[in-house]
Amino acid sequence: LQHFLSIEGLQKSLLTEILDTAESFADMSEQQVKKFPLLRGKTIVNLFFENSTRTRATFELAATRLSADILSMNIATSATSKGESLLDTIRNLEAMQVDMFVVRHSLSGAAHFIAENAAPRISVINAGDGQHEHPTQAMLDMFTIRRVKQSFSGLRIAIVGDILHSRVARSQIHALNILGAEEVRVIAPKTLLPAQVESLGVSVYHDLTVGLKNVDVIIMLRLQKERMNSALLPSESEYFKCFGLSDDKLKIANKDAMVMHPGPINRGVEISSSVADGPQSVILQQVTNGIAVRMAVMSMAMQCNMRTE
Ligand code: CP
Repeated sequence: LQHFLSIEGLQKSLLTEILDTAESFADMSEQQVKKFPLLRGKTIVNLFFENSTRTRATFELAATRLSADILSMNIATSATSKGESLLDTIRNLEAMQVDMFVVRHSLSGAAHFIAENAAPRISVINAGDGQHEHPTQAMLDMFTIRRVKQSFSGLRIAIVGDILHSRVARSQIHALNILGAEEVRVIAPKTLLPAQVESLGVSVYHDLTVGLKNVDVIIMLRLQKERMNSALLPSESEYFKCFGLSDDKLKIANKDAMVMHPGPINRGVEISSSVADGPQSVILQQVTNGIAVRMAVMSMAMQCNMRTE
C-alpha cells in the first residue's frame, strides 16, 4: 500500500487490514490515547483543488495524531492561479522534501497522475477524484458498518440518489462487494445512474418504496448540482417526494437499519432532518471514524514506503 488511489481491484485481506488497523487506533482514542509517534519526522501535504470540510479536516487531525507535520495548501491562493501546472506544483513541493500528498481534484484520475509522476519515495492518497473514487470515504463507511453490524455477510445495502456523479458510491460499491455483502442495491431515477451500472455488481431500483424492503443499511447521497447541467436539475421538492428519506420511508427498511450519508447533507432534499438527526442515523459517527481510518491508511502507506526505501 504505497499509494491508496482506488478500491477497485484491491484484495479483501488488504481492506480488512485497514479496518483492523483503524479499529486499534479508534480503541486507543476511546481510551484517551490520541498521539502516536509513527510518522514523526514525516511531512504530509494536503492538496485540495476542490472544497472539503470533513475529508480535509480529518486528514489533518489524523496526520497530527500520527505526529507528522502537515501542510494544507490553499490552492485558491497558490501559484496555480498564475498558471503554474499541476506537475510544476508537485515538483516544487517535492523539492521541499515532503513524504506524502493527499489529493482532491475535480478530474478523475488526478491522484493516479500524481502518483505516476511523483518521486518514488512519495506516497499519494486519493481524497476524491472527479466522479471516479473516494477510497478513504468508502473505508470509513465500511468501518462504521462493521462496528454496528459486526460482519458484511448477509447484509443488504441500499445506496440512494445521485449515483451518476458520486465517486463515493463507486468506491462503496467496490468495497462492499470485495468485503462480501449479500446485496448492494442502487436506488435512483434513470437520469442519475451511470450507463451499465449493473456491471459494477449492483441490483437497480427506481422506486424507493420497493428498494428499501429488507435493507440493513441505507446510504443517502447528495444531488451533486455542481456537476449537473442546470437545465437537467430536478426540482428539490419533487426529488424529496420520490427519493428523499423521510420517517415514513425509513419504516419500510429493516427495523434496525442504519442510516448513513457521506456529507455534506442537504436537509429536505435527499433526507429529512428528523431522519438525519434520528436514532438510526450514524452520520456523525462516520465523521469521527474518518480520523482512525485515515490514520490507518496513512501509517500503512508510509510503513510500506519505509520498507521499500
Ligand atoms: N464526504 C466528504 O468528502 O465530505 P467533504 O467534501 O466535506 O470532504
